[in-house]
Amino acid sequence: MPGQRGPVPVPLHNGSRDLTLDILEALEENDPFQTQSQFPETPQAEIKAALDRLASRSMVEYDTQDREIVVLTAEGQQIADEGSHEYKVWKAVKASGKLSIKELPQKVAAESAKVGQGNAFKLKWIKKDGDSLVPIADSVQDVTRELLEHVATNAAFPDPKQLKDYQKRKLVATQKQIAYKVRKGPRWAKEIPVEVTDLTAEMLEDGSWQTANFKPYNFKALGANQNSGALHPLNKVREEFRKIFFNWDFIEMPTARFVDSGFWNFDALFVPQQHPARDLQDTFYVSDPPSSGPPGPDPIADAALDEMEADSATFSTSTSKSSKLDYAKYASDVRAVHETGAFGSIGYRYPYNEAETTRLVLRTHTTAVSTYCLHRLAANPRPARYFSIDRVFRNETVDATHLAEFHQIEGVIADYGLTLGGLMDFLASFFKKLGITNLRFKPAYNPYTEPSMEVFGFHAGLDKWVEIGNSGMFRPEMLLPMGLPEDLRVYGFGLSLERPTMIKYGVSNIRELLGHKVDLGFIESNAAVRLDKD
Ligand code: PHE
Repeated sequence: MPGQRGPVPVPLHNGSRDLTLDILEALEENDPFQTQSQFPETPQAEIKAALDRLASRSMVEYDTQDREIVVLTAEGQQIADEGSHEYKVWKAVKASGKLSIKELPQKVAAESAKVGQGNAFKLKWIKKDGDSLVPIADSVQDVTRELLEHVATNAAFPDPKQLKDYQKRKLVATQKQIAYKVRKGPRWAKEIPVEVTDLTAEMLEDGSWQTANFKPYNFKALGANQNSGALHPLNKVREEFRKIFFNWDFIEMPTARFVDSGFWNFDALFVPQQHPARDLQDTFYVSDPPSSGPPGPDPIADAALDEMEADSATFSTSTSKSSKLDYAKYASDVRAVHETGAFGSIGYRYPYNEAETTRLVLRTHTTAVSTYCLHRLAANPRPARYFSIDRVFRNETVDATHLAEFHQIEGVIADYGLTLGGLMDFLASFFKKLGITNLRFKPAYNPYTEPSMEVFGFHAGLDKWVEIGNSGMFRPEMLLPMGLPEDLRVYGFGLSLERPTMIKYGVSNIRELLGHKVDLGFIESNAAVRLDKD
């Protein structure tokens, strides 16, 4: 019946009887009783569980009594069963009348021969006769055995002073024994009554609520563990980075497109078509479908950007008009700058292959998205700050610090009169937010930036220099074909999301953070993160 709870049985450890009922029954005969004498064989934990169940219903009350008891060791038990070493020696000598000392270990165990002989001499039970042993006593009293027998039944010595001596001889040991003194409680009964847990409409109607045995509320009961979702550490760190960017009035770029064309991932970035990064070894190419149409607007990305820009303080007055953008002209200008040179650049001067432009790839960097957004900016050129944090793919050998997919944090800033010093200064304040100071810059190479710099930082927590990112001023070969004005400069930087996350959470193997080997317990239990706190 709903709302009622019957007795919850606590089976005895041998599974045969309900211990709670046994306790109630025992109380009828014997109030109070001591559990050690009433249920000597039952494990203490089971007794306690049954008592608690009954006590919570006020059916019994109990006090805990812990005392020290003496138990026999294996050797002590053997003496209690068979007699002491000296007794065994005496018995063997007595039985043979005269026993050569050499023969003794064959008659009694070697241990008994060694220990027992000396004691039997001291007790004047036997004596030496040349090379042999002869008995003195006709009968002996084996005090040791008698004492141990007493201990076995009483769990204590008759004279507690003897304990130390027997402990030293490793014949007995002490143990803590927990027992309970149990008495009837105010609601004692021979059976556990059914307890009602809910007040129902029927009970109100038929009046049974007046006599019902309601189960009292247990406000101390711990609730069941609730399973709940947990944020992945990468998501937590990502949120921290987003906050930094939003505080600096960056606009988030739409990065949902994991598959992109060679045009946006490489060509528009002035990456030559023979560049090793475009090799199958470094880039995942999509086989089905293998290629896209020509470069054009992405309506989903444009709508997302429009919305983000409308929300931004900087952009709220000037919405871009993407309809002004001529993608076909852009594509042919990109081609020209590679093939023949254009916009003041002599170009790479190699035969440009349109098929490479439309080849579909898993994007190798989020700079593909930045490129799309910068081209869109050319419809209404103005200072702008964009960022993105999302997944990229590289056909790399997987090891402790590399995965074939990871997340990139990327920022680009467009403004008039930007300088390399400004980029360094910006990076210094950005990484300071992560607790990384004293940046060092190393000249590097990217086809799309000049100059390019690798960024190193001193991490105070780790007490060492760590490589943290890549950065540079975008090349005119990339920006001018977009239609951006010559004096609008753009710089950018990128870093992985995994690296700062691993540092924050002390994870040394990236596979513990991302992928099929991740321990869900780690995801569920890891702490909140603040980038600016150690
Ligand atoms: N795309 C670069 C990388 O993958 C990062 C970067 C972004 C560098 C923007 C310069 C400018 O490492």
